[in-house]
Amino acid sequence: MQLNEKVAIITGGGKGIGRAIALAFAADGAAVVLAGRTLSKLEETADVINKKGGRAAAVQTDVSHEKQVERMVAETVRTFGKIDILVNNAGIIGPTANVVDINLNEWNEALAINLTGSLLACKHVLKHMIPLKSGAIVNIGSERGRTGDGKSGSPMRTPYSCSKAGMVALTESLSVEVGKYNIRVNCVTPGPVKGERIMNVLKAKSQITGEDVDELLASLVDTFSLKRATEEEEVAAATVFLASNAASGITGQTLSVTCGQRVLF
Ligand SMILES: NC(=O)c1ccc[n+]([C@@H]2O[C@H](COP(=O)([O-])OP(=O)(O)OC[C@H]3O[C@@H](n4cnc5c(N)ncnc54)[C@H](OP(=O)(O)O)[C@@H]3O)[C@@H](O)[C@H]2O)c1
Repeated sequence: MQLNEKVAIITGGGKGIGRAIALAFAADGAAVVLAGRTLSKLEETADVINKKGGRAAAVQTDVSHEKQVERMVAETVRTFGKIDILVNNAGIIGPTANVVDINLNEWNEALAINLTGSLLACKHVLKHMIPLKSGAIVNIGSERGRTGDGKSGSPMRTPYSCSKAGMVALTESLSVEVGKYNIRVNCVTPGPVKGERIMNVLKAKSQITGEDVDELLASLVDTFSLKRATEEEEVAAATVFLASNAASGITGQTLSVTCGQRVLF
């Protein structure tokens, strides 16, 4: 068990990729705190883990509100005594629109949740990690924020792409700042992951371009080396690795988990 005795906060841990990360962390021996806005989803995931003999707690949190992030951190320390790992997974899709049509509130919301929320969680978790001279942070970015060959950006998804490009810069800046405290900071950038979210993105794009959703999906997947979309569990496995001592010499890095995505879409 790579994460035995570790305590991890997973933002957005109640559904989707965050839920898969929570289940994988718990299966690997970690106690997990699941943080998000919808308490019922957090509690459902925590129940699944606790019924299997794991240790999980739900803490309702909007990561874009600093006071709520402080409470999330305090609750974690109160419940499990320490924080070893932070996974900044919470995120929203943001608007699918050309830049000329973007509403400023939608831009601000995407940045506030996806990027500022991660910064706030790092800020308050680090106050506990630094004195212990130990910790690992994994930021969940996106191939839209930085591809394996170093490019970024995505037409009609500019707010999201910018927020996720910021996650790479946050990872690299912070890894240098906190390396002297034996704290590692890395980023996982998934490509399109199978599930509801990617279908919603494709539907929104098809409404603008008039293209058929199924054809959009088929032509997208055909550009991937493995000819399929990534599974949530594959993102979770990469996150477990970067959070674990198996990655003790790795910091400031971005790991693409994309089934071999070669082009932006
Ligand atoms: N799915 C993909 O294809 C894909 C690809 C690349 C990267 N990613 C990234 O992977 C992460 C997870 O994506 P997903 O597909 O699992 O998305 P999802 O199913 O929409 O889940 C997003 C999670 O984030 C939480 N969240 C949203 N806003 C929040 C806020 N203000 N405070 C706290 N939690 C918040 C949501 O819970 P509440 O709404 O209850 O708060 C939910 O648990 C995101 O950062 C996403 O950008 C996804």
